[in-house]
Amino acid sequence: MSDKRAIGVFDSGLGGLTVVKELLKTLPNEDIIYFGDTGRVPYGTRSVETIKKYARQDERFLLSRDVKLIVAACGTVSSVASDTADELPVPFFEVVSHAAKAAVEATKNGKIAVIGTNATVKSRQHEKQILKLMPNALVLNQSCTLFVPLVEEGWYSADDIVVLETVSRYLKPVFEFGADTLILGCTHYPILSEAISKILGDGVTLINAGTAIAEAIKQYLTENDIQNNEVSGQHSFYVSDKPDSFVKQASILLGREIDSNNVQKVDINNL
Ligand code: DGL
Repeated sequence: MSDKRAIGVFDSGLGGLTVVKELLKTLPNEDIIYFGDTGRVPYGTRSVETIKKYARQDERFLLSRDVKLIVAACGTVSSVASDTADELPVPFFEVVSHAAKAAVEATKNGKIAVIGTNATVKSRQHEKQILKLMPNALVLNQSCTLFVPLVEEGWYSADDIVVLETVSRYLKPVFEFGADTLILGCTHYPILSEAISKILGDGVTLINAGTAIAEAIKQYLTENDIQNNEVSGQHSFYVSDKPDSFVKQASILLGREIDSNNVQKVDINNL
């Protein structure tokens, strides 16, 4: 059997493209419909109630495009609003549990640090998932509030002094804690990977939830025999504001030219 419907992915902005990048590598035949809530980013500084409201609207939009499964490529939604998916008629994938599993598999000294938005860190979801799998793990949680605006502004080069200084300030506690594994608990953060590794050194393994979740989705599609067996790979992008800047940034982040005809603006508030 084959299911030609697309995989739906949403995020608060363009950070979720780090997950799309991994999906493109792992599942090149699949069509992808991406929604980035560029008009309401960031989610991570908002109340749980508001994040849930936004997540429900994002999920409703993807359902209206007839997707076969939904991926919350947003650490914040995955941490505090996963229950919005309880009544979805299609399978739902969140990034937290996959990142926690990958971190537990990677750590040698049992010291795992988690960085994320304020809402993600406050929820302690990563820590809860890690301790379920490795009860004696030591977990440090650190919010990195300025990372998202930096990335959205296009400032992520590992040669940029402002980027390095910001990363270094936020990651000082991680360095002092002696973590050998760091979960990039926000989907914007893999974009800063090079700068983060420059500050922490090669001894710290960075966990990109996108890699872990792409493998899990591949397995799910195969086990349930709902992969797209035809070579298709069509990608459509929707945003809630500024499609032009999205085209520019997305092309850089995905490392491939995005056709502006494939990026459309939607009125998410009406869903
Ligand atoms: N993409 C969001 C996340 O993964 C971060 C940006 C935001 O605060 O909305 O947590």
